[in-house]
Amino acid sequence: MKPLRIACFGAGMIGRRHIDTILACPEEATLVGVADPLIGADAYPPVRAPFFRSHTELLDAVKPDAVVIATPNNLHAPQGIDCCRRGIHFIIEKPVTESLETAAALLKEVRRSGVATLTGHHRRYHASIRAAKRILEEGRIGRLVGVSVLWATRKPDPYFDAAWRREPGGGPVLINLIHEIDLLRHLGGEMASITGMVSNAVRSFPVEDTAGAVISFANQAVGTILCSDTGLSPWTIEQGTGESPMFPRSGENSYRFIGTEGALELPNLKLWNARDPKAVGWDKPLSVTPLPVADTDPYVEQLRHFRRCIQEGEAPVVSAEDGARTLVATLAVGESGRTGRPVALKAAFERLAD
Ligand SMILES: NC(=O)c1ccc[n+]([C@@H]2O[C@H](COP(=O)([O-])OP(=O)(O)OC[C@H]3O[C@@H](n4cnc5c(N)ncnc54)[C@H](O)[C@@H]3O)[C@@H](O)[C@H]2O)c1
Repeated sequence: MKPLRIACFGAGMIGRRHIDTILACPEEATLVGVADPLIGADAYPPVRAPFFRSHTELLDAVKPDAVVIATPNNLHAPQGIDCCRRGIHFIIEKPVTESLETAAALLKEVRRSGVATLTGHHRRYHASIRAAKRILEEGRIGRLVGVSVLWATRKPDPYFDAAWRREPGGGPVLINLIHEIDLLRHLGGEMASITGMVSNAVRSFPVEDTAGAVISFANQAVGTILCSDTGLSPWTIEQGTGESPMFPRSGENSYRFIGTEGALELPNLKLWNARDPKAVGWDKPLSVTPLPVADTDPYVEQLRHFRRCIQEGEAPVVSAEDGARTLVATLAVGESGRTGRPVALKAAFERLAD
C-alpha cells in the first residue's frame, strides 16, 4: 500500500476538516497541494504543501493522484470535469453539484474517464450507521414499514451574514436535509417519490427555514422528515453523535426505523423487539437492547475507503452518481413544496444515466 498523493480544492470550513484528516493519516495519503484563491499558506500553518491560486495551476504543477473538492457548490462540476480530463480521482463535497443539469454533465465525464469518485456524504461511514445497515439487512426489525426523522436546530444569527445563506439554495434543504435524504436512501432503500412542504415563516428570508418531506420508498415503506434551522431542539444527528465540535452533544436519537417485528433508533443504536417473539402486538411488552458502538471519525473512514477504491478496486460507498441521486431526491422536496404535488423520481434518475 502506497499513500495517495492528494490535493484539496478549497481551504474553507470543510476543506480544513479534509486537510486535517489527510495530515492525520500519513499511511493513507500525503497532502501535495491546496488550491484556494483567498486562503494562503500563512492562513493555515499546519500545511507544508504548496498553495495555489487556481485549481488548474495546482493540477498541472503537482499532478496529484486524487483531490478533495471542497469549494462552493457551483464549482463542483467544472472542477470535477477538469479532474476527469486529467484522469484524477476525487472526493466531491455534497451536494455533488448545484443542479441536475451540471450533475448529468459531470457524470458523463466520470463515465468516460473511469476515475474513482466519492460524494462527501460522510455519515455513511459512522460505525453506528454501518451497524444499523447490517441490523436492517438482517431483518432484525422485520419488514420495514416506515421511518421518522428529525433534524431541527437553530442556526445562530451571524450564520446569515453571508448573503448566499439567505437566498434559495443556501437553506436547510440543500445544506442539511440532503444528508438525511442520503442516509435514508442508504438505509431504507431507493426512493420512488417525494411530497415536500417548505416554509420561511420565522425568518422571512427568500430561502426556506423549515421543510417537511413525505417519502414513498420503492419497497413501499413510508418515511417522514422534519427539517428546520430555526427551531431549537436536541434532535439532529450531529448532536446525537457529537461528530462536529460546532454541535454540543445531546446523545439523543433522531431517527426511528419501524418494522413489523421491531424498531431501531439512531444514531445511538437502540433496538426494540417483542419481549417474547411469539407474542407480538400492542398489548404485549417490548424489550429494548442498547447496542454500543465504538466511535470512529467518519472523515478518516472515508479517506481510508477512498484509497482502497483507487488502489484495491473497492466499490464506492457513495459514488458521484449515488450523490447525484441524492441530489435528485433533495431537489424534489423544494419542487413539490412549490407545486403542491408529489414528485416521482424515476425519470430524473434515468436522465442522470443519459
Ligand atoms: N459534508 C458536510 O457535512 C459539509 C459541511 C459543510 C460544507 N459542505 C460542503 O462543502 C463545500 C464548501 O463548503 P464550506 O462550508 O467549506 O464553504 P467555505 O465558504 O467555508 O469554503 C469554501 C472555500 O472555497 C474557496 N474557493 C472559492 N473559489 C475557489 C476556487 N475557484 N478554487 C479553489 N477554492 C475556491 C473559498 O475561498 C473558500 O475558502 C460546499 O459544497 C458545502 O455544501 C459539506
